[in-house]
Amino acid sequence: KTIYVLNGPNLNLLGQRQPEIYGSETLEDVEQLCREAAGEKAQIRFLQSNWEGQLVDWIQEARTEACGIVINPAALTHSSVAVLDALNMFDGPVIEVHISQIHKRESFRHFSYVSKRADGVLAGLGVEGYQAAVRRVLSLTRA
Ligand code: DQA
Repeated sequence: KTIYVLNGPNLNLLGQRQPEIYGSETLEDVEQLCREAAGEKAQIRFLQSNWEGQLVDWIQEARTEACGIVINPAALTHSSVAVLDALNMFDGPVIEVHISQIHKRESFRHFSYVSKRADGVLAGLGVEGYQAAVRRVLSLTRA
């Protein structure tokens, strides 16, 4: 089985981007953490785009290719009905991850469209949130 790990806008610059908020690990480091968390139990398809439509396409693809989705929608969290609508067509578990503690930050980050669909939400655990999210997908899809 395959878990899709999807990352939204500006996360390609993780490590360089406001490290005081997002830490010094890069997105490659996060990919490695996800692969370690999945171990032999699942394949990881790890993807990032700055484009909303690309994320929608990947979520649609996941309907037939993935047993679960881990998603850090980044800024699209707070704006994208399209990402929410796509996730609503996906049948497996969806876990939402935010590296930072969005509820401690600006009020525009407190609302998440994606949380209307997500089965779990992790915020403020740093990149460790991704590991916990992968483990949660594994336990929810344990056959
Ligand atoms: C983020 C939080 C969002 O508010 C922000 O737009 C991001 C990253 C996080 O991982 O903490 O790009 O999703």
